Amino acid sequence: MIVPATPDAVARAAAQLRAGGVVAFPTETVYGLGADATNDAAVARIFSIKNRPSFDPLIVHLAEPAALSTVVATCPDAARRLVARFWPGPLTVVLPKAERIPDIVTAGLPSVAVRVPAHDVARALIAAADRPIAAPSANPFGYVSPTTAAHVAAQLGDAVPTILDGGECRVGVESTIVSFLADVPVLLRPGAITLEMLEAELGPVRIGVDAPLPTAPGQLPRHYAPHTPVTIVDDPGAIAPTDRAGAALLSATPLTDTAGFATVRILSPTGDLEVAAAGLFATLRALDSSGVRQVYAVRVAEQGLGRAIMDRLRRAGRH
Ligand code: TXA
Ligand code: MG
Repeated sequence: MIVPATPDAVARAAAQLRAGGVVAFPTETVYGLGADATNDAAVARIFSIKNRPSFDPLIVHLAEPAALSTVVATCPDAARRLVARFWPGPLTVVLPKAERIPDIVTAGLPSVAVRVPAHDVARALIAAADRPIAAPSANPFGYVSPTTAAHVAAQLGDAVPTILDGGECRVGVESTIVSFLADVPVLLRPGAITLEMLEAELGPVRIGVDAPLPTAPGQLPRHYAPHTPVTIVDDPGAIAPTDRAGAALLSATPLTDTAGFATVRILSPTGDLEVAAAGLFATLRALDSSGVRQVYAVRVAEQGLGRAIMDRLRRAGRH
């Protein structure tokens, strides 16, 4: 059930978390499906509700940066600097896990992914629960992440007793994930803390991949994907009239030649990539239920937030 995130509702949801329940809650990136990270049975419920394979580890959410030392075994200076700069915020760091974090959270890995979200409701909930909260995005495994409470209810409503409504997510794409397990930091998933921002703080960062453990993404049916085929195009002007019929054209920035498409969605009329990212998933969902047979998504330059947008568009197209 969707409930407005009033202080009372947050207190009740925190009590549910303490009792081993599962609660959907807003963060600045996307909505999460949370459970007590120190309670195996509670975390198992997340996997079953999402239909998520047990080899895909979860992110542990904290209310305060100072709590990091309660969930990790060690933390290099570089990671300390990064979280001091960007927490609370859309940044997840992967570090060696503390014993307190059970294997079910990390899919048996000796490392744990951790973040402090920049959302008042999320932080109040985690603080009141008074324990680390494991939370993946609140969508069925493989589908687009939810950026409103209604998105969560549409797909998981029957299975999730409490969906705290904190409005639309400000960032709209999932957190940047950086691993500190190797000698050089590795960017596993691009997000609103961009590669450029990371490198300004850390020096060179290697680009890695974010994939469920048995690194065979091709064998997974899809990931972060709508059901409608999504094709990335460089030049929408080159799409033939017959291909335009019944198809949607999706672009982060304004376009001129849009005749003949069934639907045209411009994510930001002023070309602002922050606005584009914030609306991306809601637009993919809307197009997915609009009956178009095909989505053509126009490529954006892979700089700044453009890297995260292209990453999600590529995943959306991977069927
Ligand atoms: O913005 C976000 O990060 C949202 C909100 C709810 O916080 N959460 C989110 O969670 O996107 P999820 O489960 O959808 O994505 C978590 C990703 C997974 O793809 C997983 O592979 C990676 O984090 N991950 C988790 N633990 C890891 C670890 N120990 N090593 C490497 N990757 C890890
Ligand atoms: Mg997810």
